[in-house]
Amino acid sequence: MSLIDDEGPAPLTTFVIAVDGPAASGKGTIAKGLGEAFDLPVLDTGLLYRCVGMTVKAAGEDLDDQDAAQAAAVLLTADQLEDPRLRTREAGEAASRVAVHPRVRDALWDFQRTFARQEGGAILDGRDIGTVIVPDAPAKLYVTASPEVRAERRWKQLKAQGERVSKAAILADIRKRDARDGGRDAAPMKPAPDAVLLDTSEMTIEAAADAARRIVEAARARWLSSHEG
Ligand code: DC
Repeated sequence: MSLIDDEGPAPLTTFVIAVDGPAASGKGTIAKGLGEAFDLPVLDTGLLYRCVGMTVKAAGEDLDDQDAAQAAAVLLTADQLEDPRLRTREAGEAASRVAVHPRVRDALWDFQRTFARQEGGAILDGRDIGTVIVPDAPAKLYVTASPEVRAERRWKQLKAQGERVSKAAILADIRKRDARDGGRDAAPMKPAPDAVLLDTSEMTIEAAADAARRIVEAARARWLSSHEG
């Protein structure tokens, strides 16, 4: 299956918000806040890759084996995404490794596009939402923060989940993941040309969520006026 057939994907008719950015940038929290503010469902697309990675590991297969990862991606169902083990550091690392495979990304495209096209609109957060999954989204954010700030946030989050790991190890993870997610050939992590950049390094998460809401309100006003009449 190719990502887009000859005629291209069916165009969006609903208000969709694409939230991209690196690991622990705050994009998940921001996406949830936007979901509440605009009453829209949110898909954390990182969970799809986490699920594929953990399924491959559970089967004793190699994360670098594209066939094994593709098979897991093809069989993925929404109820699998509820598993709390997908929130672990191990799952994040496995996700980043299977995410380099083009056929895995292809297999997950429909799931994400169907979520995006649901009636009433939707929010998706990930790495390639504004560039590949919903390049036609009327609102796009690219959320960043310095690696040090992100490491501190991720460390606190993992600690709250009961994982014991040093901040230095988390910072090393984050640098490695940035390099892998941004350096891969298939849908590398990068801001869409029309995304609004939001650097949350110096912001509290409340301030970042507030800034995101204002950016999206402006995009929504533009979208509504272009859909009037
Ligand atoms: O957002 P996260 O930390 O849960 O994502 C885990 C990994 O999944 C990330 O390092 C790269 C991959 N990913 C991706 O390639 N594309 C997405 N849209 C979301 C996640």
